Amino acid sequence: MTSPYITIFMAMSLNGLIAREDGREDFLSHDNWLTFCNLVSQKRNFIAGRKSYEIVNQWPEYNFNTVDADLKIVVSQKKTLNLTAPYRLVGSPREAIKVLSDAGFGEGLLVGGSELNTAFLREGLVDEIRINVEPVMIANGLPFLSACNLDVPLQLEEVIKNDRGIVTLRYRCLNRSRQ
Ligand SMILES: NC(=O)c1ccc[n+]([C@@H]2O[C@H](COP(=O)([O-])OP(=O)(O)OC[C@H]3O[C@@H](n4cnc5c(N)ncnc54)[C@H](OP(=O)(O)O)[C@@H]3O)[C@@H](O)[C@H]2O)c1
Repeated sequence: MTSPYITIFMAMSLNGLIAREDGREDFLSHDNWLTFCNLVSQKRNFIAGRKSYEIVNQWPEYNFNTVDADLKIVVSQKKTLNLTAPYRLVGSPREAIKVLSDAGFGEGLLVGGSELNTAFLREGLVDEIRINVEPVMIANGLPFLSACNLDVPLQLEEVIKNDRGIVTLRYRCLNRSRQ
């Protein structure tokens, strides 16, 4: 079976920040949550890093627990994390891909954060990056990629502007490896 088609979806400020330093995403609008829910309803799954899982699930309104999906994968090396279905704990990006593939998914949605985006992109496991750029800049915060030595060549596929000023950019990753 071919490896699932992996899309990263992230919302960010114009200057490329995905969260404040303390983890809050209060500078991002509700539209981004709707985009996330819409993508999950298409793909029926998502993959999140352990820190995103813990931070997002503290929020009453924007909470992974309330999102309807058949499979919710959390990537962590902490074997003690106690998750119940439809959550599934995996120890690496490649294991996440295998779990998706074994469950029959042709597509997967990676939803960050910064460290997990970097881990997937470093291994060439991402087909597409979809970014919602909010009409705001914030001075300090967490970037799309964590500090590392990594270049990702991209091809721009689509640009969409909505009436609230969010620009959606869709790119194909040119470093996708399918070995
Ligand atoms: N704006 C957006 O669209 C958006 C979307 C998602 C998240 N966020 C924000 O992003 C922030 C969290 O991002 P983050 O970069 O700090 O953390 P993260 O990527 O969510 O999670 C990092 C954790 O994931 C696990 N992990 C990462 N790479 C791994 C690998 N190769 N193998 C095994 N486990 C791996 C590790 O868990 P263990 O330490 O347990 O081993 C690591 O500590 C939050 O503030 C969240 O709100 C924003």
